[in-house]
Amino acid sequence: MASVVIVGTQWGDEGKGKIVDLLTADADVIVRFQGGNNAGHTIVFDQKKFILHLIPSGIFHPEKKCLIGNGVVVDPEVLLGEIDNLERQGISVRPGHLYISERAHLIMPYHKAIDHGREAKKGKTKIGTTGRGIGPCYEDKIARRGIKVGDLLDDKLFRDKLAEILEEKNFYITQYLGGEALSFDEIYDAYRRMGERLAPYVTNVSLELEKARQARAKILFEGAQGTQLDIDHGTYPFVTSSNTVAGGACHGAGVGPTTIDFVLGICKAYTTRVGGGPFPTELFDEIGQYMREKGGEYGSTTGRPRRCGWLDGVVLKEAVRLNGLSALAITKLDVLTGLDPLKVCVAYELDGTRVETIPGSIRAVERLKPIYEELPGWQEDISGVTRFEDLPENCRAYLAYIEKLAGVPVEIVSVGPARHQTIVLKNPFASL
Ligand code: GDP
Ligand code: IMO
Ligand code: MG
Repeated sequence: MASVVIVGTQWGDEGKGKIVDLLTADADVIVRFQGGNNAGHTIVFDQKKFILHLIPSGIFHPEKKCLIGNGVVVDPEVLLGEIDNLERQGISVRPGHLYISERAHLIMPYHKAIDHGREAKKGKTKIGTTGRGIGPCYEDKIARRGIKVGDLLDDKLFRDKLAEILEEKNFYITQYLGGEALSFDEIYDAYRRMGERLAPYVTNVSLELEKARQARAKILFEGAQGTQLDIDHGTYPFVTSSNTVAGGACHGAGVGPTTIDFVLGICKAYTTRVGGGPFPTELFDEIGQYMREKGGEYGSTTGRPRRCGWLDGVVLKEAVRLNGLSALAITKLDVLTGLDPLKVCVAYELDGTRVETIPGSIRAVERLKPIYEELPGWQEDISGVTRFEDLPENCRAYLAYIEKLAGVPVEIVSVGPARHQTIVLKNPFASL
């Protein structure tokens, strides 16, 4: 038995989808444990590109089992659309290959209406959410008024819950947000129809994982978003509404902490952020523009241009601590080719004082000024390099520097979007 958790170490979009797809070759079961279709995970192979929002990135390996855990919030329309889209392209997503937790909460039309309405009302102070209803859905889960995937299979329960909740939601939408009331009949009919289609996929994911463990299966947990978007540990309130850190894999999939063997942190060789909130190493100059264009830094979910900046070593060290990282995968190293010198933030200045951790107050985070160390860059195109020793010397030095800064080994290096553009120094499943 072996369980590996994959998490983003920054503000999301680190290349988690690519690495999950790659490591799926050595896994048997792949499970999403938090977030929803705010995620956009890109997978590239055989000159084809896929972006997944809800289905685990293991789905392209037909013999593997993909699970959507209880900690995920599921928009059934998006999920069915994703299933249909993959099936149309010849990727099998039949029940047996994909399962969904009966305990996962459903994103309802009112969650999306509230997400949009609130952001519009906030104006300049908005979070810059993906508008997918993620926050409002998690709110209802915690407030104990959510509707779960399993509820769709019980007609009376679903009808009663929806009637009770919709009354409250329509009051909020019309009276507070100034929006239009939603129709009970339309939601009821649409969700019942979708429930019928989803029924064969619904299961107890925790039990599936237990069975897999007993069969000595290798399990890969696929995180969404990144450590700095964690609801507890991120740059609150500019975060998402779930626990993105590795601990979330346990409660979001229904396994205990003693079952996790390895945590792999995915770290972009520089930093990006989509949406609002502080970002100490953000670049507003031509270097930031270079990273955006060369790295194709436009959101996989919303298409928004991603904010770009230098690698932040403080953010990285926070990720090592908060996730208990075993190792790092450094992605998009090829994007740094041609930049010289390279800068890495090693600490911040806060009101004249040097700080080496991220303060709890958002106002203080907004005032942080990065303190950089410089490293020499390289000019060679590395996107075709398949052996570590063939990387330019300065490139290897950059990786060694990151490793020293983080205090954990760099075991995977990604030099392009495709599966084969990866240098695997050590496969996390190999030692387990
Ligand atoms: P995720 O949300 O963490 O799965 O990441 P996204 O898919 O949102 O964003 C990562 C983007 O970078 C995608 O377009 C990937 O195809 C691409 N990508 C991943 N790894 C590399 C890499 O090593 N080099 C380059 N140039 N692109 C990469
Ligand atoms: P992946 O899995 C990058 C950001 C949004 C916004 C904040 C809250 O592809 O790395 P939400 O809709 O979750 O309430 O938005 O979080 N965000 C992401 N940024 N990658 C993601 O996912 C994200 N998911 C949410 O832009 O700032
Ligand atoms: Mg993404």
